[in-house]
Amino acid sequence: MRIAISTGGGDAPGLNAVIRAAVLSAINRGWEVLGIKRGYAGLMGEDEVIPLTKDSVRGIAHLGGTILRTTNRGNPFCYPTRRPDGTTVEIDRSDELLASAKRLGIDATISIGGDGSLAIAKRLCDKGMPIVGVPKTIDNDVSGTITTFGFDTAVNTALEAIDRLHTTAESHDRVIVLEVMGRDSGFIALHSGLAGTADVILIPEIPYDLHRVCDKIMSRDRAGRHFSIVVVAEGAFPKGGSVSLIGESLPGQARRVGGLCEPLAREIQQLTGKETRSLVLGHLQRGGVPTGYDRLLATRFGGAAVRAIASEKWGHMVALQSPHIVCIPIEEALRAPKRVDPNHDVVLTARATGISFGD
Ligand code: F6P
Repeated sequence: MRIAISTGGGDAPGLNAVIRAAVLSAINRGWEVLGIKRGYAGLMGEDEVIPLTKDSVRGIAHLGGTILRTTNRGNPFCYPTRRPDGTTVEIDRSDELLASAKRLGIDATISIGGDGSLAIAKRLCDKGMPIVGVPKTIDNDVSGTITTFGFDTAVNTALEAIDRLHTTAESHDRVIVLEVMGRDSGFIALHSGLAGTADVILIPEIPYDLHRVCDKIMSRDRAGRHFSIVVVAEGAFPKGGSVSLIGESLPGQARRVGGLCEPLAREIQQLTGKETRSLVLGHLQRGGVPTGYDRLLATRFGGAAVRAIASEKWGHMVALQSPHIVCIPIEEALRAPKRVDPNHDVVLTARATGISFGD
């Protein structure tokens, strides 16, 4: 048996722990393992396919990033390809990918990725490539699994930032607006904001009214709390308004969400008269050492993916449905993206403890 592993989309802390667990589990069954570099680029002659041995995965469980590298511009069904005149066109190179996997004698592939990579895995599987998925994203927006690895690390990074911002905001009687990642979901903002006792949390699932945000800040001010912390998800938007986008995306890349934090800070300062500062936490949330929770979850996913291959669960992905790791059809996870439920107890408790969602 020869299996391959690919990591696609944005990286997330814990990817290396999945790779390590999968490689060791497979080798201990007597299987061979290959690593496809940079998403599927290794199978399309644009990067390498490398052997993964016990030695290649030694000492990597605690490392952020992915030893296989990754890309969020590598969809084989619309692969950005440069023409001699310098322009870029998107070409369907999936047949080439399948042929290359066959030529290399790959019997099964573990595709580790978020909703985009899982959708690609499903399409490749439908074309006859035996694939098992492993859900990954710091955004926690994949359905069918209670959480994805990477999310806990991102929340902890945001939490540390909120803790640090609290002390400086309080010293200066300032409002500080912190923008965190999450694309169209507000999980990172919600979880870090509640754990970090933010005063306002703005998420895409609950469009905000700027005046309500300012009311909260001013009511704190009147009560003698002259500083406020506003945690805003990059995909949050005002009632009747739209999501803020950053620049232009490169060919093959999804739209880039974010950049609302500084304009929001300026508006808050104008309306409240309070000195306001902003900070975009950005890719710090994606880097660094995965938390113990993420390392364990990633390791469990890696082991479970190899068991899923042994059971020929093609087109399935591993998922956490506590306390168990289960295997569900990828299409079930893709049916609808996971979003914050405004009636979830985390939101209710945040409201009950005085946090405003600006609504
Ligand atoms: O999906 C993970 C994520 O980090 C999002 O939270 C964020 O919007 C996006 O990826 C950033 O992507 P890039 O690394 O391409 O800027």
